[in-house]
Amino acid sequence: EGLKDLFTDSFYIGVAVNGQQVSGKVPEELALIERHFNSLSPENGLKWEKVHPEMDRYDFEFGDAYVALGEKLGAFTIGHCLVWHQQVPNWVFVDEAGRLLGKEALLSRMEDHIAQVAGRYKGKIDGWDVVNEAFNEDGSYRESNWYKVAGKDFIKAAFRKAHEVDPAAELYYNDYNVWKASKRAGILTLAKEMKAEGIQIDGIGMQGHYMLESPSLEQIEQGIIEIAEAGFQVMITELDVDVLPRPGNTQGADLNINFANSPKYNPFANGISPESAAKLSQRYTDLFQLFQKHKDKISRVTFWGLHDGRSWLNNFPVRSRTNYPLLIDRDLKVKEDVFAKLKAIS
Ligand code: G3I
Repeated sequence: EGLKDLFTDSFYIGVAVNGQQVSGKVPEELALIERHFNSLSPENGLKWEKVHPEMDRYDFEFGDAYVALGEKLGAFTIGHCLVWHQQVPNWVFVDEAGRLLGKEALLSRMEDHIAQVAGRYKGKIDGWDVVNEAFNEDGSYRESNWYKVAGKDFIKAAFRKAHEVDPAAELYYNDYNVWKASKRAGILTLAKEMKAEGIQIDGIGMQGHYMLESPSLEQIEQGIIEIAEAGFQVMITELDVDVLPRPGNTQGADLNINFANSPKYNPFANGISPESAAKLSQRYTDLFQLFQKHKDKISRVTFWGLHDGRSWLNNFPVRSRTNYPLLIDRDLKVKEDVFAKLKAIS
């Protein structure tokens, strides 16, 4: 019995996968993916810098293996992500002389990229994170190159193009800290505006980069309810629970804070105490209980990585920590106490 089997009547259980996993180089990891998950997300392999590193060069090696794995497993297969301000090469934004492009030229470059990538995987990717992380914490637009040149139209144009290229694919907006009312307000204002204009947007991904004690369940629940009330699917994307200290940030994971500058921050903090391990299993139980309560609104819950040894949180906010954020440990053992608790509430 896998994790996915506990929640078949509720939502997909997804996992973010990497190149080694999709190319079959780590059979024991592949077996775990198959056993526990019925949805896949590509952790890095379909991001612009990977799939389209130079203007005239696309690299579909990862993507092809990824969708083949999705097909083989019969998994609900996610594309992540078409437009983001990170992991995008600088050439995208400038002309040969190095000058920032104008709006029309930039949007046409963006649309070409979407046509190539979403077009190649038409019918093979079930849902796309079309735009990722375009808002600030206060609900204003992030001053990315995309926004500086094209304003919020870049978001609308990206969704329009993605729908034109693959009309059957679901299309999502994805961001972190969507549990923050101010940030969510900005996102939902735009999403509703797009809907009113006839632009397809099916769901909002709430990245679940959580900590042991924050955000609160009430804050997450408020987010789930408001997104659903606005008429969108809710997805808990990128779920993990950071068990290591992040002094200076009591409000939850803000991926833009420079923790290294925090005087109280201890970069050598490693490992998990018995207290933290107990808190971790309680946190996951509480979270899944909440997700179960709202299973009519939530279509998918995706973990950001297969096991603790593969988590990006070993390298954030500084490199080379030993973190324990997932449900499978570095020895590829399922955390049985957590699994048992999830089974009890499923
Ligand atoms: O592949 C290189 C390797 O060759 C090199 O030796 C090593 C040393 O720097 O870096 C490796 O690349 C790293 C890559 O992950 C693969 O592990 C990059 O430095 C590192 O920046 C990159 O981090 C990724 C991060 O996005 C980039 O912003 C994480 O794996 C990935 O989990 C993370 O995912 C994002 C979501 O896409 C969006 N939401 C937030 C989430 C967490 O940041």
